[in-house]
Amino acid sequence: MVRFPEGFLWGAATASYQIEGAVGEDGRGTSIWDTFSHTPGKVYRGDTGDIACDHYHRLEEDLDLMADLGLQIYRFSVAWPRIQPEGSGAVNRKGLDFYRRLVEGLRQRSIEPMPTLYHWDLPQALEDRGGWMSRDTSERFAEYAGIVYEALADSVGFWITLNEPWVIAWMGHAKGVHAPGHKDTSKALAATHYLLLGHGLALEVMRSAGHDNQLGVTLSFSSVRAASGDPADAEAARRVDGNTNRLYLDPLFRGSYPGDMLEQYAGASDFAFVRDGDLETISRPIDFLGVNYYYRKTVVDGHNDSGLKTAEPYPDLNATTVLPEGVETTAMGWPVEPDGLTELLVRLHEEYTQVPIYITENGCAVYDYVDPEGEVDDRERISYFDAHFRAAHDAMRRGLDLRGYLVWSLLDNFEWALGYSKRFGIVFVEYDTQRRIPKASARWYTEVIERNGLED
Ligand code: FCB
Repeated sequence: MVRFPEGFLWGAATASYQIEGAVGEDGRGTSIWDTFSHTPGKVYRGDTGDIACDHYHRLEEDLDLMADLGLQIYRFSVAWPRIQPEGSGAVNRKGLDFYRRLVEGLRQRSIEPMPTLYHWDLPQALEDRGGWMSRDTSERFAEYAGIVYEALADSVGFWITLNEPWVIAWMGHAKGVHAPGHKDTSKALAATHYLLLGHGLALEVMRSAGHDNQLGVTLSFSSVRAASGDPADAEAARRVDGNTNRLYLDPLFRGSYPGDMLEQYAGASDFAFVRDGDLETISRPIDFLGVNYYYRKTVVDGHNDSGLKTAEPYPDLNATTVLPEGVETTAMGWPVEPDGLTELLVRLHEEYTQVPIYITENGCAVYDYVDPEGEVDDRERISYFDAHFRAAHDAMRRGLDLRGYLVWSLLDNFEWALGYSKRFGIVFVEYDTQRRIPKASARWYTEVIERNGLED
């Protein structure tokens, strides 16, 4: 048996815009994802989150589903535009009430709530005033965090400020494939700083409210390696690691930006947005780190002339990620490399922090379908999870203080620019009827939770 420690928390994660729908209800304001998804050409097939999984209206049913699956912790996100429709000022009580009902419903079912305060749905009104390229947004975020915290701190023990600042900054501000759709390296750098600052300011507000809760942040990580022994590939891997991991880890845990990244981006930004005291704010102690891991990045220098298949070009970094020979890939085209998770977790523990870690997302997209018997036989997902749970356990044997594991995702949902074309759920959502059908992986996961481990 591969056994996890007593008290280990098994759960699942979602995010507001990806599942809630009800975008025009109970006073919710417009978010940048409403604007982006309604802009022709931005999201696959023109899909939007208008209805999504209709979770806002199906809260009780979804809570019962979580209880049936045996979940012990549930990570969701709070939609800022439901709380402050314009991103600042007056509080929309009806918005807060929805999350109150959600938290109460979880508590009644003995499921630990783990809210994320920002999972990408910035109020459009703030984007119109400069969004994450503006210091004002960091301050507004702290104010909003304080509002939600005051309302729910009594009944919620785990709090996550941001989800994946790297994805927000680089996919949303440099590549332009996510909202708000900017394509400018200097904007991604400013967004990086103001997101991290927003996290730090929000922590200060929450700490000063005087509850004894666990406060943390979730980062997206990839383990990174060079595709060959060529020193040029090793250098390229260093740059990709700097951008993906260290640009976020260093300010949070060491109070400084990595020197090689400041040099790397010297032509794009003078970093004048970093003011005295900002890095102290950003590096205030957290109680836990949320880790999202999907895949490893294997890197070649420059354009890819290695003969290996290209995964993703990084022109800013003069690097390209490639797929290792023979590697299995998911429906996203992402390589399946569970040992990359062990490598990442051990590195975090050895080089950065000893705070408890929660895996706040891990999972895979599969080409799921309902078979004639009405079942969804997603055995690829079962083997993905099985391998990654074992990989996490290996890191625990090497000293990592891992306290919980939350799979992405509870439900199939709006996968951002890819709309509903990619299914990550352990529960299938039939979008035209909104029927929920637990997949084979959900049944399997329930047994893992009951056993608190895996068979040998
Ligand atoms: C992560 C996001 C999450 C989901 C998964 C597949 O980057 O946090 O919302 O889209 O990827």
